[in-house]
Amino acid sequence: MQKQDYVSEDARKAQASEKQRSIVIFVLLLAIHIASSVFTFIASRSHDVITIMDNTVPVPAFAGVFFNISNICLIFIVVWFKKKGFILSLSLLLFQFPILYYGMIVQKIMAILPGFFGNFVTIAAIIVIYRRNKKIENYQMIEITYLTRQQRFSQRLFEQTAKALVNAIDAKDAYSHGHSMRVAEYSEKIARELGKSDEECEKIYYAGLLHDVGKIGIDDQIINKKGKLTDEEYEAIKQHPVYGNQILSSISEYPYLSIGAHHHHERYDGRGYPDKLKGEDIPEIARIIAVADAYDAMTSTRSYRDAIPQQSVREEIVKNSGTQFDPRVAKVMQHIIDLDTEYVMKERSTVQELSGNSELSCSDYRGEISEGILLSPCMTSISMLSKPLESSGTSESYSIPTIILFDSLDGRVHMDEHTAKDLNYFEYGEIRFDGKYICAGARKIHTSIHNNGIHEEHHFRTKKKASGGDSYRIEAVRFEDHALIRIFDSTKTMEVVVALPDSARFCYIGLTGENCFISNVHISASETPVADDYIPRIAEKVTYIDVPAGDIPNVQVDGYRRTSSEPIPITDGLRIDFHSMSLPTARLIWHCPYFVLFHSANGKFDAQKAVEYALIRIDGETWDDEKSGAKNELEVDKTSEFISWDEWKRRNKEGIDCSVTFKIEGDTIITETENLGVKLKNTTVISGGVKDVYVTLTADQCALTNIRIRKA
Ligand SMILES: [Fe+2]
Repeated sequence: MQKQDYVSEDARKAQASEKQRSIVIFVLLLAIHIASSVFTFIASRSHDVITIMDNTVPVPAFAGVFFNISNICLIFIVVWFKKKGFILSLSLLLFQFPILYYGMIVQKIMAILPGFFGNFVTIAAIIVIYRRNKKIENYQMIEITYLTRQQRFSQRLFEQTAKALVNAIDAKDAYSHGHSMRVAEYSEKIARELGKSDEECEKIYYAGLLHDVGKIGIDDQIINKKGKLTDEEYEAIKQHPVYGNQILSSISEYPYLSIGAHHHHERYDGRGYPDKLKGEDIPEIARIIAVADAYDAMTSTRSYRDAIPQQSVREEIVKNSGTQFDPRVAKVMQHIIDLDTEYVMKERSTVQELSGNSELSCSDYRGEISEGILLSPCMTSISMLSKPLESSGTSESYSIPTIILFDSLDGRVHMDEHTAKDLNYFEYGEIRFDGKYICAGARKIHTSIHNNGIHEEHHFRTKKKASGGDSYRIEAVRFEDHALIRIFDSTKTMEVVVALPDSARFCYIGLTGENCFISNVHISASETPVADDYIPRIAEKVTYIDVPAGDIPNVQVDGYRRTSSEPIPITDGLRIDFHSMSLPTARLIWHCPYFVLFHSANGKFDAQKAVEYALIRIDGETWDDEKSGAKNELEVDKTSEFISWDEWKRRNKEGIDCSVTFKIEGDTIITETENLGVKLKNTTVISGGVKDVYVTLTADQCALTNIRIRKA
C-alpha cells in the first residue's frame, strides 16, 4: 500500500531548466566581475584623459565605476548562490587586498584608497546578506518540514482509510481476498504501459484499490453464495458500482475514486452496467480497471473453480477485446502477460496456498504431488530427502519416491477426468525410484542403471526395500522432443531417456511417491543450455511436413518462431501461397502462421543479425514494438466469414490454405492476406528505401507446406 514519494515529470523538467538558468546567470555575473576588475586595474593606472561633452575627464576616474560594477556582481552572486556564492565572493574580495595594498604602499597611488574602503563595505554587505539568507532559509525549512509532515499525515490517513475500506470489502467476500490490492497493482501497470505520468498512475492505483467498495452495501449471503445467483440476487450485486459511487463521491478531493468505482463494469460495446456507457464515453480510468479486474478474477481461485492458466486468460482477453474491453487497454494487458513469462502476477497469490507443500506426505500411491517443475534445455537439479512414513509402522515396508512427467496448462498433475480435460493434462509417463517405469503418452522410455561401475539395464535390483530414508539428487533436462532424467542416490545412478510425443509443448516433473515422506526439496537450474546432442536419441523426430515440398522446403515450427522458411526476396506483386496446419500441441488463437519482413546483407534470416521490419501474424494481433528503420500500420477487419475464435482454432488445426501478397510503392511495402474472415493490410514504411527486403514464413506450432512463390 505504501506508495513511493514521487516528483512529477513537469516538476523534474522545471528543476532542470531552473538549474540551466542558474548556471548561465552565474557565469554571466562572474564574467562581468572579472571584466570589471580588469578594467578597474587598467583604468586606475592610466594617465590618459577622455573628452565627455566638451569636458576632459581623467581615465582613472572611471576606475571607481568598474570597481562598483564588479562588487555589485559579487553581491548578486551571494544573493542567488547562497553559501557557494558567499565563499566565492569573499575569496575574490580578499584576493584583491594584496593588489590594493601594493598599489597604495609600494606604488603610492592614493587614488586606490576609496577602493580599499569600498572593498571593506562590500565584504560587510555580503556577510549581512549571507546571514539574512541563512535566516530566511531556516524559516523556510521549518515551514517545509511542517507542511511535509502535514502532507505525510494526510497521505497516511488516506492510505489507512483506503486500507480499512479494502479490508472491509475483503472480509465480506471469502474468495476475493487480496483482489482489490491486485487490481490496483495491475491497473497501475497498465497505466504505466499506456505512458501515463506518475501522478496519473497513482490515481489509477487508488481508484483500482477502491473499485469494489460498493460491495459493502450488498448482502453477505449474496456475495458468498456458492451456487448460481437468482435474477434478483444478480440485480442486487449489480448495484455495487452505484453504492461505490455514492460512498466515494463525497471525497471531492479525489474525484477519480468514485469514477473508477462507478464505471468499472461498463462494457466497451455498451452492454455493461450501471449506465450502459459505450466506447470512449466510459472514463479511461474505468476501462483500465475493467481489464485489471477481469484479469484478476480469472487468475484467482473461486469457489467453483481453480485459477485459470495464464495463456487461457490471455486468450479470453483477446476474444473479448473490442466487445467487453477497450481494445487499446486489452492489447496492453496482453503485452504485460507476454512479459510475465514466469506467471508471477498470479503466483504471488498461490505461493501461500502451496507453502504447506514443500514437504510431501504420500501415504497412498500419488497421495500428494508437488507442483510441476518445468524442464528446459538448461539442466535443472533437484535435491530431496525421502523416508518411509512413520505412520506405516515399519521402515522395511515399500517406500518408493516417484517422478511424474506431464504437461498441463497450469503446470500441475490432474487426476480428475474433467479438470484434466479442461487443463489439457497429458501424462508422458512415471518413473519410480526403484527402477520401474510406466510409459503413458511418451513415445518411448529407456532406462539404464550405473551401480558402482556395474552397468545394469532396466533393473534397480539392489534397492527394492527402502532403508530408513535416503537423500536423492535429480538432474533433468529437455531438448526438443527428448528429455533426460538422472536420479542419484548414495550408491547408484539411474539414467532415463524419454522420447516425448511429436512437438510436446511443455514437460513438467511432479514429485510424488508411495509411503514416503519427501522433504528438504531444493531446486536450482543452470543458465547454460546443454549441447544439441547431449541427450542420446531413442526415437526419430516426428514430422508433419513429410509431404512434397513446393518451391522452397516445407517447415515445421514447433514453438513461437522457433524456426522459419527460406527467405523470399520481396518484389512488387509477389504472391506466396502455402498450406498451414496447427500442430497437435497448438491450442490457442495465436498458434498460427506469421510473416517476418526483414533485411539482411546475405539474404539469410539470422535473428541476431537481420534487421526486422515487421512481424505480421495472421490472427491480426500486433504490438507496436520499436522496429529499427521501419514504421508499421496494421489494419484488421473481420469479414462475415469470421465465425468465432473457437472456430478459427478448429479450422487452423484442420489445415488452411493461405495466400499473402506484397506491393511495393516507393519506400512502402503493403502486405495483404485474408484467412478465415480475418483480413489484414499491413503498411511498412522503410526509411532509406526498399533494398534487399525479404519475407520469411514462420509460426507458433504450425506445419507450413507446399509453399509456392508467384512473382508478378
Ligand atoms: Fe466490481
